[in-house]
Amino acid sequence: MISIPFFSNASAGARIPGPSGYPLLGNALELSSHASRGKTHEYFEKLGQEYGQSFLLSMAGNLLVVSSDKDLIHRALTDTTNFHRNELFDMVVKGIAEFALFTLPSGEVWKRHRKYLQPAFGPVHLRHAGEATTSEMAILMDYWSSKCDEGGSTTVDIFQEFTALTLDVIGQIAFSHHFKASESYHNGVDSEGHDIMQDIAALVQERFNTVPITWKFSGLGSNSPRVTAIRKYVDQLFEEILAAKKLQTANGETKLAKDKDVLDRLLDTDEDDNDKFSKAEIVGEVLGFFLAGHETSANTMTFMAYELSRNPEIQAKLKAEIKQVLHKNAGVVTVEHLNEFPYLDRVMKETQRLHSIIPIIGRAALHDIEHNGFLIPAKTVVLCNIRGMHLNESYWTDPTAFNPDRWNEPIEANAFAPFGSGPMNCIGQKMAVIELKLAMIHLLSRFTLRYIDQELDFITSTTYGLKRGLSMELCMDT
Ligand code: HEM
Repeated sequence: MISIPFFSNASAGARIPGPSGYPLLGNALELSSHASRGKTHEYFEKLGQEYGQSFLLSMAGNLLVVSSDKDLIHRALTDTTNFHRNELFDMVVKGIAEFALFTLPSGEVWKRHRKYLQPAFGPVHLRHAGEATTSEMAILMDYWSSKCDEGGSTTVDIFQEFTALTLDVIGQIAFSHHFKASESYHNGVDSEGHDIMQDIAALVQERFNTVPITWKFSGLGSNSPRVTAIRKYVDQLFEEILAAKKLQTANGETKLAKDKDVLDRLLDTDEDDNDKFSKAEIVGEVLGFFLAGHETSANTMTFMAYELSRNPEIQAKLKAEIKQVLHKNAGVVTVEHLNEFPYLDRVMKETQRLHSIIPIIGRAALHDIEHNGFLIPAKTVVLCNIRGMHLNESYWTDPTAFNPDRWNEPIEANAFAPFGSGPMNCIGQKMAVIELKLAMIHLLSRFTLRYIDQELDFITSTTYGLKRGLSMELCMDT
């Protein structure tokens, strides 16, 4: 899920074109200089124009193929006999979030985690996700309404609002824990949880941008004060969540197997009363779910708001659809109603295409592989350039235009993968879609979004987003 994997042990000999580099270092300097500024997407865009949809980089002797070719991407994500997720992520989260599903390399441990956690995303949980989003949005909208001036409008940082919202929702649906992030944000109280989550993302990215032997000297090592502070917070958070869970059990709140959330499943014991997961595994997953499940959704909501505010006609059309469906259902909207909003579905997909929140997914070749006449040597890291594929002119007409109506026609097969593909695809995707759609329905049922002219900084960090957030005018509908 991160922008720049650095390490593989590939032998030389690939024939895919690419820029020449320095002896020993290869393209490492140029790549890390872009990565440290959050501009990897610009570097890849430039190289794509020069060398085509797949190009080769060398990182201190290790080979990376960056590709926006939909067939290679599909192959790398689905063909598990030839490609795998290697130990790279594991290494980068050492001492922070080991055992988080999205960082686990392919193999038995990943399989066991995925198998046990998958049922925590069933229909009961999806409904719960809908209810949690609806109730959090109701509180938010009352708050925004109370802040409106006489003209009926208020200005918010919509990115910060959505970040707090998604943290509150993921806490409730995965761990029955309420962060109260929105409340803290509105009361101007520093939310330690929010700051730590941001620092974890930054630290992981910084580790990606540098060679592991330097981590110890640049404050990124496992025993550095920064990592120690993160671990202390994560342990504390875990104890807090666990205590709340024990209280629920002591109060006689028992759950059927199908109702168990992520944490219940992590705490499960087998028939001999042995824990199914170690404490390290549980802590890693708790943190992993917070990381994977909130910034991704918050960034997508932010870009939806961004596009709607910049395209008033599209916003008006969507508001009309929302008004009509709400009227038909006496103002009530639940998960079951979501397929009654086809235009919203198109707006969401178009946002995910134009703004790929997970711009790169990494896999490594298990063997020498031939693709379209090119050799990908064993152990080469293939960086699936999802953003490049979503903006590729061979698959999309006028790819940089925001045009929800393009989804009226069938799209090129396998050219759209905002949630990845294959066995390691996003476990939370249905939940995310529910959250995104309900948040937008509620927001647009009461407010119109107005774009404010501002300088925006698009960055690739652990996800693709806006570094300085997004100021937005919310105008109450009369
Ligand atoms: C719009 C929001 C989201 C986007 C764009 C997104 C995207 C992705 C992508 C592209 C992957 C695949 C990574 C890979 O192949 O290596 C992934 C994996 C994952 N996502 Fe999401 N995600 C979103 C929301 C969520 C939510 C809400 C949750 C949790 C409730 C979640 C939990 C996970 C987990 C645990 C994985 C790892 C799956 C595995 O390795 O088996 N995601 N996500």
